[in-house]
Amino acid sequence: MSVVILDFGSQFTRLIARRFRELGAYSVILPGTASLERIAQENPQGIVLSGGPSSVYDEAAPRPAAGVLDLPVPILGVCYGMQFLAQQAGGTVARAGRREYGKADLTRYSGQLFEGIAGEFVAWMSHSDSVTALPAGYEVVAETLDTPVTAIENNVTRRYGVQFHPEVVHTPKGGQLLANFLGICGIERDWNAEHIVEDLIEGVRAQVGDGRVLLAISGGVDSSTLGLLLARAVGEKLTAVFIDHGLLRLGEREQVEAALLPLGVNLITVDARTEFMGALTGVSDPEQKRKIIGREFIRAFEREARIHGPFDYLAQGTLYPDVIESAGGLHSEKSGAANIKSHHNVGGLPDDLAFKLVEPFRTLFKDEVREIARLLGLPEHIRMRHPFPGPGLAIRVIGAISEEKLDILRRVDDIFISGLREFGLYDGCSQALAVLTPIQSVGVMGDERTYSYTAALRAVTTDDFMTAEWARLPYDFLATMSNRIVNHVHEINRVVYDITGKPPATIEWE
Ligand code: XMP
Repeated sequence: MSVVILDFGSQFTRLIARRFRELGAYSVILPGTASLERIAQENPQGIVLSGGPSSVYDEAAPRPAAGVLDLPVPILGVCYGMQFLAQQAGGTVARAGRREYGKADLTRYSGQLFEGIAGEFVAWMSHSDSVTALPAGYEVVAETLDTPVTAIENNVTRRYGVQFHPEVVHTPKGGQLLANFLGICGIERDWNAEHIVEDLIEGVRAQVGDGRVLLAISGGVDSSTLGLLLARAVGEKLTAVFIDHGLLRLGEREQVEAALLPLGVNLITVDARTEFMGALTGVSDPEQKRKIIGREFIRAFEREARIHGPFDYLAQGTLYPDVIESAGGLHSEKSGAANIKSHHNVGGLPDDLAFKLVEPFRTLFKDEVREIARLLGLPEHIRMRHPFPGPGLAIRVIGAISEEKLDILRRVDDIFISGLREFGLYDGCSQALAVLTPIQSVGVMGDERTYSYTAALRAVTTDDFMTAEWARLPYDFLATMSNRIVNHVHEINRVVYDITGKPPATIEWE
């Protein structure tokens, strides 16, 4: 039982899926032109036609396959989707006098989609076309000042359309509207993490059979959760490789081992610290550091694959947003493009290590992975951990790295991150980090003059890591951190807090 969302290219399509999932209903996105057979495979109880950049009256506009509109299930058209429904039923769509973009108040609303909703209804609009003549059998159930036909309904055929986007946060009551649609479809809202886990385990077993699976563990939530899931699905057929490149945070290796080994993950920790340090000695250019680390990682991973192999599958924690961004649609004909990108994520392995990919999280959002992680028993400190870059502390020691500098940074970072947790500030930040700058400056400790390093602390809040605000951490907290750092890390005599947003700065300093 599911809702099938036919994607006509709206940037918000994945949000529709996300909202339904949040409401406890399983939903999948298919390309707008998916065949009737493909749609039937999903056993849909309801269909949503998404928005999109085209105009329904253009020759080249994407259309659902023949027969889709005749399926005996409720259909909700959003923006382009509503215009398509209206046009197909004999209505007219034309370019609106002006493009309507942003928030608009519904001046009236009624009907099944709006049942149980009361008071002001703010709707997020983004359209240039409008329905100008209503098809037979439909009635207008909402309007705004600028758009007389803002929502339509035919409750005999159970066809519904909204010109606005109920899926975005700027339509605060949109979730209730989507919940009403689920009710109209008769869809039970029982899609939850337990279901997802069972489904994923079954899916992995069906895909890999008796094959052996290789997984690189980074210590982050995605790969750790994947390790736990695969251990449940295929047991000893999984080999999880965790490469300690010497650029990890204090105690990180031990934490990962302590989290995964007791839960049955066949985990191999590889100590590659000497190789990485050797390759990075004297390198100060950030991009060069990244390249070397990428290369060394592949080298070490490849070696382990040969030692413990052969393997049939390479598992990756690719998430839904990556797939959508890279291929335009999860099941689109272009899904090969998504695979190419995934391969690049592991840096391009040689041909004789050509694995088939297992990507169980391809349909999931990050918060769903975190839910699964909770069910599978991943400890809280890893489950809710901030992201940590692949090149690790190497891009947080500015300039050339050394064991000594990494050690200093590890201690500073540990004080800062533990402090954030202790003061209940960690979860309010999207990412927090410490940087060891090459600046040495004069200070005074007791009666002694010091000449030591400057550490920088950075904490940001962000939704997508593309842009970010610096976190407004309390002064008293920063003062405590500064005190602790200079008292416990004697190589540091000055602590600064980074108050730059992104843009213009990036989150990492290198
Ligand atoms: P920036 O510094 O570009 O970072 O604002 C955005 C997010 O990406 C992470 N980041 C990386 N992650 N390899 C990674 O796996 C990298 O080379 C890398 N560089 C930055 C960064 O930590 C932040 O979350």
